[in-house]
This record gives sequence, structure tokens and C-alpha cells, in this order.
Amino acid sequence: MAKNQRHLTMVANWKMHKTGAEATAFLARLRELGAVKAGGCFVVVAAPFPALTAAVEAARGMDVAIAGQNLHWESEGAFTGEVSGAMLAAAGCTHVIVGHSERRHLFGETDEMVHKKVRAALAAGLTPIVCVGETEQQRAENETELILRYQFERAFWGMSAEDLRRCVLAYEPVWAIGTGNTATPAIAEGAHRFLRRCATDIFGAEAAAGFTILYGGSIKPGNLRALLEQPDVDGGLVGGASLDADAFATLVRAGNSN
Ligand code: 13P
Repeated sequence: MAKNQRHLTMVANWKMHKTGAEATAFLARLRELGAVKAGGCFVVVAAPFPALTAAVEAARGMDVAIAGQNLHWESEGAFTGEVSGAMLAAAGCTHVIVGHSERRHLFGETDEMVHKKVRAALAAGLTPIVCVGETEQQRAENETELILRYQFERAFWGMSAEDLRRCVLAYEPVWAIGTGNTATPAIAEGAHRFLRRCATDIFGAEAAAGFTILYGGSIKPGNLRALLEQPDVDGGLVGGASLDADAFATLVRAGNSN
């Protein structure tokens, strides 16, 4: 499957930003700007838990999917502060971010937890947006491919090609997140091509060719197009530049025309 047969996807990851009222205002502005179009790129907004219901309401009738930013792997139980996949689905989410580097590095999420969360998301009928990426030191020590393969294999361990078809991968080099140091298009393409090869090795060429792999890390209106021109970059996972509806609309437009 060539790139133009994979659906280009643009995801806003608001992280710990925006109340319900702010989510509503953002989506109203995005609607007004008219950047989200049927037949254009697929748009997802990952809102904080308390803003999800407002975001789902505000996105009604618009081609915008709403995502959680995390989930617990159990469906319910004595896990204070946690949220299950079933709860996200009931709130109207269709997607959930899993294994973001901030979860891994700030909150001690392991590859084993990431794996259980991917399974839990699929069991709840959600599309997991699974994040992988190397640190600056790992890249400097030439360990990027080792780390990416390990994170990929652990996240999707024991799954089928059919499971993979319901997942999205995001390559987010840790050194590029929130730093302004976007990966060059060549670096991003190299990592994406490698990750697609990892998918081919385990799930076969057909599943790998249809697998959406997003890039994340300091995406801005000025650098997105060159990234999207790469054959294995299927869209973006955007932090900072997704907080402003006008800026995000510019990114969505770049996705529509690529
Ligand atoms: P920035 O776009 O702010 O670098 O964040 C990237 C990211 O972590 C998206 O999940």
C-alpha cells in the first residue's frame, strides 16, 4: 500500500492544558475556520479527562475524533486516579494515546504497562496511538534502532496483524518534544522506515504497508510540510502548536493538501 492509500492523520495532544470551556471554545473556532474537511486528513483531539465530555459535545457533526491521553489496563477496580478504556469509550472517545514519553519518563510507565494498555484499548474498542522514541543519549550512542525495535516489539507483543490494523504508531524522539529541535525530515523518515520494517518483520508486508506512523516533536506550521512529504510519515502528533485553534487549523490544512 502506497502512502497515499494510508489515511493522513493530525492529532492534537493538549497534555495538561484546557478546561471543558476552553475545549469548547477551541472546537468552535476550529469549526469556524473550516479546516477540517470530509476527505481531508483525519483529525483527532486528545483532551485531558475532565474536558473530554465537553470536547465530544463540541465536536458533534464535525469530522474530529476525541482521544484520551492515557488509560489503565484494568476495566475497573481500586485504582485511585485511573481511568479505564471502557470509561473513555463511554465518554465518546474513539482513540487513546498510550506510552507517551512523558508517561514513560515522568510517571514510570514501563514497556510492560504500555503493552497491557494497548491490549486494554483494543478490548475497549479504542484505537491506541502508541508512542515510541529514543532519548538524546540513546541517539548519540547509536542505539536508536535498538530502542525503537524493543519498544515496538514489547508494545505489540503477541498481537495479530488484525490487531495492528486497529492501532496507530507515533514516533516521538524524546529530544524533539517541547524543545524546538524538530527531527529533520531525513531523520524522521529514517526512523519511520525502520519502524515499518519492524512491523513487516512481525506482521507481514501487507499489515505494515497499511500501518499509520505519525511523527511528533516540535511540529510547527513552518516545518510540517517537509515532514509530511516523507514517504513513511503519515501525519503528526502535535503538542504545543495544537493549543491554539488557528495554529492547529494551519497544520490540518497542510495535512489536507499532502
Ligand atoms: P510538542 O509538539 O510540544 O513538541 O509535543 C510533542 C508531543 O509530545 C506530542 O505528543
